[in-house]
Amino acid sequence: MNKKIIALIVIVVVIIVGFIGFWVIGSNKKLESNNNSNTNTDESKNSNETKEENTNNNETSNDKKVAIIYFSATGTTEKVAGYIKDETGGDLIEIVPKDEYTSDDLNYNNSNSRCTKEQNDSSIRPEIKNTINTDNYDVIFLGYPIWWGDAPRIILTFLDSHNLDGKVVIPFCTSGGSEIDTSVSYFKSHYKNVKFHDGATLNNGESAVKNWVNGLGF
Ligand SMILES: Cc1cc2nc3c(=O)[nH]c(=O)nc-3n(C[C@H](O)[C@H](O)[C@H](O)COP(=O)(O)O)c2cc1C
Repeated sequence: MNKKIIALIVIVVVIIVGFIGFWVIGSNKKLESNNNSNTNTDESKNSNETKEENTNNNETSNDKKVAIIYFSATGTTEKVAGYIKDETGGDLIEIVPKDEYTSDDLNYNNSNSRCTKEQNDSSIRPEIKNTINTDNYDVIFLGYPIWWGDAPRIILTFLDSHNLDGKVVIPFCTSGGSEIDTSVSYFKSHYKNVKFHDGATLNNGESAVKNWVNGLGF
């Protein structure tokens, strides 16, 4: 074979190999850059998701601060207060009487018992033992048993001694069957700057309490 023809063939082969080489390198670069852009998209998606999570957390932490403040002489209202705490995540605060109510005190069949006397005298304000700070709360669930159709006087001690103006107060009670309405009407007419809800009589167990709370939107 002529030397010239061999040289030509070598040149053509070199050119073809060169083209193939460039093509392979080129497609790898393209692949890499696609991969990078996918990773970036994933990263930015993740960072958006994180942002969303943070926003949600902020929303939760910006939510209104809730307290469940209650008086309970024999534990029934206390249980209900606990269900409300479970549902709202609010702070549970008991109103503790300075003088505990004994079973004699609670005897509603005795016209001389402490409870009967207290409920018959609208000026009585039994002392509260513990200090209750309501400043940091926007929403207060206020719980008590019904005594003689009304709120125990110690609830009025609490309302008289705390400035709840502008706060939302949601009364709830337990009872042998009487409703909360009489007590709430009194609250609304005597503490006019407090935003009282109509409240609820909660004698029907845990799930009824939780349904009621969920209906309030907390
Ligand atoms: C002094 C006293 C008076 C009561 N008066 C009523 C009443 O008028 N109507 C009613 O339905 N229940 C009445 N009850 C029942 C309580 O409201 C009921 O047992 C309540 O769930 C007790 O809650 P506690 O365990 O949180 O104290 C009275 C109970 C007591 C001790």
